[in-house]
Amino acid sequence: MLAPLSLLAALPIVSVWAAPMCSLVPSKSAGALAASASATAAVGGAATGSSSGSSDVGDDVVATTWYAGWHGSDFPPESISWSKYTAVTYAFAVTTPDVNTVSLEASDEELLPKFVDLAHQNNVKAMLTIGGWTGSQYFSSAVATDANRTAFVNTVLGLVSKYNLDGLDFDWEYPNKQGMGCNLISDDDSQNFLSFLQALRAEPAAQNLTLSAAVGITPFNGPDGTPMSDVSDFAKVLDYVAIMNYDVWGSWSNAVGPNAPLNDTCASGADQQGSAVSAVKAWTDAGFPANQLVLGVASYGHSFSVANSAALSGNTLNAYPAFDASKQPLGDKWDAVAPAGVDQCGAPTAGGPSGIFDFFGLIDGGFLTANGTVADGIDYRFDECSQTPYVYNPQTQVMVSYDDAKSFAAKGQFINDAGLLGFAMWEAGGDSNDILLDAIEEAIGFTEVDC
Ligand SMILES: *[C@@H]1O[C@H](CO)[C@@H](O)[C@H](O)[C@H]1NC(C)=O
Ligand SMILES: *[C@@H]1O[C@H](CO)[C@@H](O)[C@H](O)[C@H]1NC(C)=O
Ligand SMILES: *[C@@H]1O[C@H](CO)[C@@H](O)[C@H](O)[C@H]1NC(C)=O
Ligand SMILES: *[C@@H]1O[C@H](CO)[C@@H](O)[C@H](O)[C@H]1NC(C)=O
Repeated sequence: MLAPLSLLAALPIVSVWAAPMCSLVPSKSAGALAASASATAAVGGAATGSSSGSSDVGDDVVATTWYAGWHGSDFPPESISWSKYTAVTYAFAVTTPDVNTVSLEASDEELLPKFVDLAHQNNVKAMLTIGGWTGSQYFSSAVATDANRTAFVNTVLGLVSKYNLDGLDFDWEYPNKQGMGCNLISDDDSQNFLSFLQALRAEPAAQNLTLSAAVGITPFNGPDGTPMSDVSDFAKVLDYVAIMNYDVWGSWSNAVGPNAPLNDTCASGADQQGSAVSAVKAWTDAGFPANQLVLGVASYGHSFSVANSAALSGNTLNAYPAFDASKQPLGDKWDAVAPAGVDQCGAPTAGGPSGIFDFFGLIDGGFLTANGTVADGIDYRFDECSQTPYVYNPQTQVMVSYDDAKSFAAKGQFINDAGLLGFAMWEAGGDSNDILLDAIEEAIGFTEVDC
């Protein structure tokens, strides 16, 4: 079967999506992706000296998402739209003080085998990501010496064989750049990370694995603490990097800005905080091939408390309004009011909600209708530069900067125009009825085959 995804999506669920052995390929119209296919398929081979360093599915394009194990009771693996992905990555295994151990304790370790089984039944790669915002504390020591790198290679390959994984994603936030606040940090982090990845890729058991990294909007930091000017060696051992182009603006910012801007070079100087356009330029300027870049996209947004006077000029929503940080709104059902106390680093925290609204949560919360359009009584603005939407409830004074079908379609178009490898969505369970997923896949021109 060969048909545009948009047509498939209109067919009854049972006859299409439940069929086994589907996979995604770029349609003939997706020129950039198709052109990148042969170059990318050679990655594993180039690193290993083998001529066929890839397994059968999805190496020419990447349509992937992270699955949060801790949301498993609410969004079980059966709920993943498997046939629309080439790979799905389980989150998170976290680094520990012991290089011989990573921990899945906070992410429902029991669920991982079932996740892998379902992926394989659907001919989708099952990956595991290591690290994350709160899980990167001990990356630096795990890769610090030859002996530790050897041990850490064994640790991660142990996970691969224990869980029958097809790939590993390294989400180190960040090499030689502080993230959570108490991560171990060294000037040599990026070089050591590269040496670790090289050692991993050289292992026979890793030759056919998909290896990726989730990365920031600027290249890895070098020894001087600024982004490296040449990261091309990473491209020889990784299949791809996924650029986490989200949380660019949030509760820590000084105004309401886009969570996941497509562009910022068109914004005023102060509002240029990063974007897909800037990040792709930064990574490719540093020698990372565009056709090994995957754009990270967000199925969630950030909320802010904004007074009517700051939010509105007449009936029009203002850009970059000020917000009241002392009144962080509660997000959706996956958000919670954290108690005051100490954080993982032992630092005192005031507690409170994150304010995150997943896309489904904007529907639950009355900002959007079930089909993702703006609900009655809600103000909406689509920002032309960042190509992202805002909603505002004037009664509750809550503004949310998020992504919708239109912004996902714009990002899909950009992925094609820039010749990127595909997209990676955080997180699988954030969407509602695949409104976002279908929009980006349709814009890219993915076609489902062999259904
Ligand atoms: C190597 O790993 C061990 C933990 O297993 C850690 O205690 C040690 O500090 C690491 N070495 C370096 C140089 O970071
Ligand atoms: C890697 O894949 C190739 C091609 O499918 C296969 O011949 C080879 O045995 C695989 N290597 C390993 C270590 O699984
Ligand atoms: C980003 O903005 C710049 C400056 O306005 C513009 O030239 C460029 O076409 C934009 N790129 C995208 C992908 O929107
Ligand atoms: C979306 O839902 C709203 C409210 O139910 C309805 O008015 C609108 O026509 C729908 N739009 C589309 C494109 O289906």
